Amino acid sequence: MPEQRPIIVSGMRPTGRLHLGHLHGALANWVRLQEENDCYFFSADWHALTTNYHDTAIIKRAEREMFVDFIAAGVDPEKTTLFVQSEVKEHAELYLLLGMITPLGWLERSPSYKEMRENITDRDLALYGFLGYPVLMTADIILYKATRVPVGVDQVPHLELSREIARRFNHHYGPVFPEPQPLLTAAPKILGTDGRKMSKSYGNTIDLGESAESTTKKVMGMVTDPQRKRRQDPGDPEVCGIFYLHKVTSAPETVAWVDENCRTAGIGCVDCKKKLLERLLPEQERMRERREALLARPGDVDALVQLGTSKARAVAARNMEEVRSAMKLKLA
Ligand code: TRP
Ligand code: SF4
Repeated sequence: MPEQRPIIVSGMRPTGRLHLGHLHGALANWVRLQEENDCYFFSADWHALTTNYHDTAIIKRAEREMFVDFIAAGVDPEKTTLFVQSEVKEHAELYLLLGMITPLGWLERSPSYKEMRENITDRDLALYGFLGYPVLMTADIILYKATRVPVGVDQVPHLELSREIARRFNHHYGPVFPEPQPLLTAAPKILGTDGRKMSKSYGNTIDLGESAESTTKKVMGMVTDPQRKRRQDPGDPEVCGIFYLHKVTSAPETVAWVDENCRTAGIGCVDCKKKLLERLLPEQERMRERREALLARPGDVDALVQLGTSKARAVAARNMEEVRSAMKLKLA
């Protein structure tokens, strides 16, 4: 028997173009993980509906682009199972079954639920689907019996809930599911053009494979150390988004050079940004070429995703058989 490799599941909501934050946060990690694990990476299109229920048309368009970005960034569909959540109906079935044993209090107490209810005021989120988000997420993960889930720190409370739900299932119906643990790899901090965390909702992103012209414009206009007002003022690279981009883009000597010369006012921010562009522009160009090659043959990308989706479906179907047996939902 071949040794069973660890099973890893992660999903992303298809809500728009991916940016450098996704690349250095999630994707670089996924690319590493696919070598030694059985990875399932999927488009969480049903999850996108929880916050985008009013604007559903962008989901499928964003989804194709998202898969293109995954592959352009190095996620290899030969090694990794890429699939679409809504095309594997077992996610919905397991979600429903888990809903029967998930106490309301667990969901209402979830910190991200409380936080989003407080912060998102432009739409009504007093919705059943929104409250149930972590139950669907749990179904996504345990449906494949995953043990590890690469996510950002913001998702850790969700995963804690997932473990509790899996535990409760096993307690009622017998040991079917492993309890999934978060896989937190030190993701580098990536700030956006305005100095806040890079995020589509802030409109401060540099997208994967953006043109040289537009990348240059954004970098040259990017907020740096706000205390460094004049060229002769020393700066603090640790509060500057340009420095974080150097760390994930430039050679170590360059990072050391920036670190030193920013603090001593040996260089100005314009020099520093130009230095960043020396590496960032060719990198963006490579990404742009790969994206365009893939986008020129959308049928090929769709076929890869369909193949992944049928693989995921087979695993999901097998595991759901086990769930139905454990729950005595079919006659032996
Ligand atoms: N909740 C995740 C996010 O917003 C997306 C997601 C849905 C996910 N299902 C998942 C991530 C399962 C990991 C595992 O980013
Ligand atoms: Fe940021 Fe570079 Fe300016 Fe320092 S010199 S504040 S690291 S842009």
